[in-house]
Amino acid sequence: MKAPPPNLSFDDLHPPVEDFRAAVLDGFARRPRRLPPVFFYDARGSALFEAITRLAEYYPTRTEIAILRAHGTAIARHVGRDTQLVELGSGSDVKIRVLLEALRPRAYVPVDISREHLLRSARAIARDHPDIAVHALCADYTRPFALPAAPPGARRAAFYPGSSIGNFDPDDAARLLARVAALLGPDGRLLIGVDLKKDPARLHAAYNDAQGVTAAFNRNLLARIRDELGATLDPDGFRHHAFYNAPAGRIEMHLVAARAQTVVINAQRFDFAEGESLHTENSYKYDVAEFTALARRAGFAPREVWCDAERLFSVHCLAVRNPD
Ligand code: AVJ
Repeated sequence: MKAPPPNLSFDDLHPPVEDFRAAVLDGFARRPRRLPPVFFYDARGSALFEAITRLAEYYPTRTEIAILRAHGTAIARHVGRDTQLVELGSGSDVKIRVLLEALRPRAYVPVDISREHLLRSARAIARDHPDIAVHALCADYTRPFALPAAPPGARRAAFYPGSSIGNFDPDDAARLLARVAALLGPDGRLLIGVDLKKDPARLHAAYNDAQGVTAAFNRNLLARIRDELGATLDPDGFRHHAFYNAPAGRIEMHLVAARAQTVVINAQRFDFAEGESLHTENSYKYDVAEFTALARRAGFAPREVWCDAERLFSVHCLAVRNPD
């Protein structure tokens, strides 16, 4: 393997497998049963998610990239110069490459739960941008964590792409954004991608692709539970179920037991009736005005919003509201 680039450093705060075990035992004990979506992203899950982003039906990734490309100059004006740019859930590295060109930050801090995926992309970016200090942080950003010191004189800015904020119900989303505001500090900026409400058929297709990649991504959670926790469990005994819950304004993903079965984890037995579901993900969709209101509640002042012509997706620039 090649030597790591000199401008790259790495902190591993990946939660131990016991956190995964505790979350699974807790989620399986609830009714309805559920699991937090952060556990989708092991190496295989990240690769499957990347495959999702290339699907014809999955419009968010390519739409967000197009918005960043079209408005790079205006985005740079609103975010400002001399920043430490923190990326929460470093997804597709195409997005960050577009943004690094537009913003030319002093330092770049990608934060991601998926270690191999994070390191591969951080190494490539450090190599291609020798003038940017890259500090990769393997961590679950939904839990409290500390950032490396910003370079002297640099302000903090965060990029939270892909509408991952949609994984949280609005109250939790506001709490998470309030923590991000505290992390960014005075004069901080947040650039956040938010998927918009639209024709339910379009949403449905994006989470029910013809090739079954989303189904494989969803079922990979079960394979992780089997392999990492030594559970007795057959991933093929569950089917992928995703639908738009219009009153709640969210896509829901579930794994539904195709037949009655018992899952054994740590000698604990969990009986699933046929048709019983395990709720694995919510993906909330917003109107621009709804999201702006949420951002205000979280302590941000909305600065600007960019959308594509079809209004499928939005990118918001928010400023931390300094206490007066
Ligand atoms: C990474 C959370 C934004 O909600 O669209 C894609 C994850 N789940 N297909 C999304 C996902 C199923 C994705 N986020």
